Order: sequence, then C-alpha cells, then structure tokens
Amino acid sequence: MTAKIIDGKAIAQELRGNIAKAAAELAKDHGIVPGLAVVLVGADPASEVYVRSKSKAVTDAGMKSFDHKLPADTSQDDLLALIKQLNEDKNVHGILVQLPLPSQIDSTLVLNSIDPNKDVDGFHPVNAGRLATGQRALVPCTPFGCVILAKKMHSSLSGMNAVVIGRSNIVGKPLAQLLLAENCTVTVAHSKTKDLPGVCREADLLFAAVGRPEMVKGDWIKPGATVIDVGINRVPGEAGKTKLVGDVDYKEALAVAGAVTPVPGGVGPMTIACVILNTLRAACASAG
Ligand code: GUN
Repeated sequence: MTAKIIDGKAIAQELRGNIAKAAAELAKDHGIVPGLAVVLVGADPASEVYVRSKSKAVTDAGMKSFDHKLPADTSQDDLLALIKQLNEDKNVHGILVQLPLPSQIDSTLVLNSIDPNKDVDGFHPVNAGRLATGQRALVPCTPFGCVILAKKMHSSLSGMNAVVIGRSNIVGKPLAQLLLAENCTVTVAHSKTKDLPGVCREADLLFAAVGRPEMVKGDWIKPGATVIDVGINRVPGEAGKTKLVGDVDYKEALAVAGAVTPVPGGVGPMTIACVILNTLRAACASAG
C-alpha cells in the first residue's frame, strides 16, 4: 500500500485564494482592509524567514502588513508600549509577536498584553479558555491548519480515534481541543506515555508534534490511518548539507498509512495560511 500524499502546499494555496476573495468583499462591503502587525525583536535568521513569509502572505491576500523590527536589546517596557499602541490602532486587526523573544523579555507577559481579539496566534489565555469552552476563539495557527488538512481527507472526523503526540500550549493542547470539538475520541500522548507505539497504533488520525526527527516508525501506524506530521527538524543530509525531516519516518509511513503529510510541504504552508485566515476573522469580528 502506498499512502496518499497530503499536499499542504496546494491546499494552503487554495485557502489563501479564498481568503483573498473574502478580504476583497470585506473591503467592498464594509470599507475594512484587514491589517496584520508582525513584531520581530532581534535578528534570529529562522524568525526572519518566518516573518518575511507571513508578511508576503498578508500582502498577497490584499491585506495590510505592518512590520515592526526592533533591536535585540529592546526593553520589555518598550515592547509593551508598542503592543499597547497596536492594540489601540484601528487599522491593525491582528498582532503577532514572533517567538522566541530575547531573554530580557518575559514572553508570557508580552503575549498576555495583546488584545485577545487581535491575538492571531491564539496564545492568549482568554483564547485558550474560549477554545476549551466551545466559544468563538482565535485558534493557534498550526493546530488549526492540521485540522483543516484532516478534514480535507475525511468529510467528518466524528467518532474517529485521534492521537496527538506532544502536549505543548502552542500545538498539542489546542489541537486536542479542536479535535474534541470535531467529536473525535482524543488521546494526548507525551514523553511519559507508556507503550507509545501501541497507543499510536490505535489512531485513525495520528498527529506528531514532538520535535524528534523521524521518531514515529511505520509499525506505530495503524494501516490506512491519516498521519499529520507537525515536526520540522534539521538533520545532517548529503554532502555536508542539512535537510528537513518531520517527526514521522516518512518512507515507512508511506508504506502503511492511508494518507500522510510530507515535510516540507505539509503542515508548514497551512500555518502561514491560518495566520492570514485569523487576521481575516479578527477583521470580520471588528466589523460586527
Ligand atoms: N515562532 C515559531 N512558531 C511561531 C508561531 O507559531 N508564532 C509565533 N508568534 N512565533 C513563532
């Protein structure tokens, strides 16, 4: 058996096209052009790449991008003052502070200072609480993208056994909440889980978000399962270069799973698409 490859790049492209159409309608009907402010402190090369691709996705969708690049020695007070200003700015519907932040800054304090209705990362405890209690929330982008991919493969996820490996606040926990809301039976597995391969083998939907290269082997996968790989790990490749691999052994998964996301080209493009989707949602909510 060879699994279907879930083309996250194509699915994200289609979603971005639909978001652009909806943004154009919002501008026509309500005179609102969604705006995303992206704040980058310091010059971490990986963060700079992420920020550039987010800004491009925003402008491609006909939205406004407000980039704030601050020096690495920015004080916490200065960053908090910028966020206050963005919270009050009517042209800014979404605020994203790129992580990680330098060590002199308390990340939790900063993320909690963002207006929850502009929190396109969905990291604010108000949004986490809204999600957990079934209220309208801005949802973290990576789990949001994972569920969209799973729903592309299955018209309904209701009653499916979903296993999420990883319990981070950014991916594992919100993903579990989203899957519960889809009426899945959800297991959250982690580093202390007993018989992790056995737990994974029960999954109709398997999500790997642990940050361990190729940890999930073929014999951890139930034949025909849908496997969504959130991992992005840099490992030594050929000729002294590095290559990207996921948390799933892709070759082995292809032989067992029903469908599997590649790395790169699976979840990654969906995360970016969901940043602009959340910006659109925040802008729509501001229109009432
Ligand atoms: N750094 C790595 N991933 C993310 C993300 O999803 N959001 C933010 N704000 N920073 C990140």
